[in-house]
Amino acid sequence: MPDPQPVEGPVVLVGCGRLGSAILEGWLLTQTVAASDLIILTPSQKPAAEAARAQGARVNPPLEVLAEAKVIVLAVKPALWRDVMTPLLPFLGDQAVILSVMAGVTAPTLAEGIGGWPIVRVMPTTGVSRGGGVASVWSADDRARALGRALFQRMAETVDLADEALMDAATAVAGSGAAYFYAFTEALARAGEAAGLDAGTADVLARATLRSAAESMGDDPLDALIGRIASPGGSTRAGLEAMARDGRLTAMLNDTVAAAVHRNREMGA
Ligand SMILES: NC(=O)c1ccc[n+]([C@@H]2O[C@H](COP(=O)([O-])OP(=O)(O)OC[C@H]3O[C@@H](n4cnc5c(N)ncnc54)[C@H](OP(=O)(O)O)[C@@H]3O)[C@@H](O)[C@H]2O)c1
Repeated sequence: MPDPQPVEGPVVLVGCGRLGSAILEGWLLTQTVAASDLIILTPSQKPAAEAARAQGARVNPPLEVLAEAKVIVLAVKPALWRDVMTPLLPFLGDQAVILSVMAGVTAPTLAEGIGGWPIVRVMPTTGVSRGGGVASVWSADDRARALGRALFQRMAETVDLADEALMDAATAVAGSGAAYFYAFTEALARAGEAAGLDAGTADVLARATLRSAAESMGDDPLDALIGRIASPGGSTRAGLEAMARDGRLTAMLNDTVAAAVHRNREMGA
């Protein structure tokens, strides 16, 4: 795929907390948006916003500049978005697109609060700050979806969702997934300890193995990757068979993702 063009602004980032800062750093690192095209709204000083300001971004300018904004990226807590957006709406032009990265706030809920502007929802991971995140994109509007993709595809593996309802499942897999792998790594280390390793050595081995597995994964099919390590009758194959006995690995992950989907729905209700 050809390298996507930088996104022309102004691009307005509303909220520069954990995710907002990660997005900002990713945009600048991957040159998705020129700093001079960025407008950042933040109630308190943030290192990422100050770094962007030093490169030419505008931080908390008079709200009249929002009239030209191409996209407003809403990165505040779900409980706050109405209070945050209401004072901005009178300044927005017809061309603006609203991009929400908020978990659980649906497009109909957003539309009811903000009116007729096209909406795109994106669920990114904070790995975007290093240009290596994951992002799920959904919009009912083609222009808004294309803009959502363009803003994230240089810094994330970006997938289009066919239905907004899938956002909860995508969040349960990608948004939460790193924590599942960390929990698995912790359990692997403790299992190594149970097998006789000291705790520190088991931690080093489990963490280094996760890193090394991630680095060598590439785009090869997962069963081919497993086959390269687990020869028939070997010790890895014995371990894999124990892990999958009676379908317990599949059942455990089905329960894990279902619980996260359920909680995402509860929080969005
Ligand atoms: N963190 C993640 O990994 C992640 C992943 C996917 C989605 N999300 C979504 O991203 C959103 C933000 O999450 P977060 O973890 O980044 O939360 P956070 O660290 O609390 O950031 C929220 C930011 O919103 C700012 N804010 C509050 N009022 C504002 C206003 N009137 N104008 C502009 N900014 C305002 C806060 O500023 P102050 O610090 O000055 O109070 C704060 O920095 C949430 O809706 C969450 O669902 C987060």
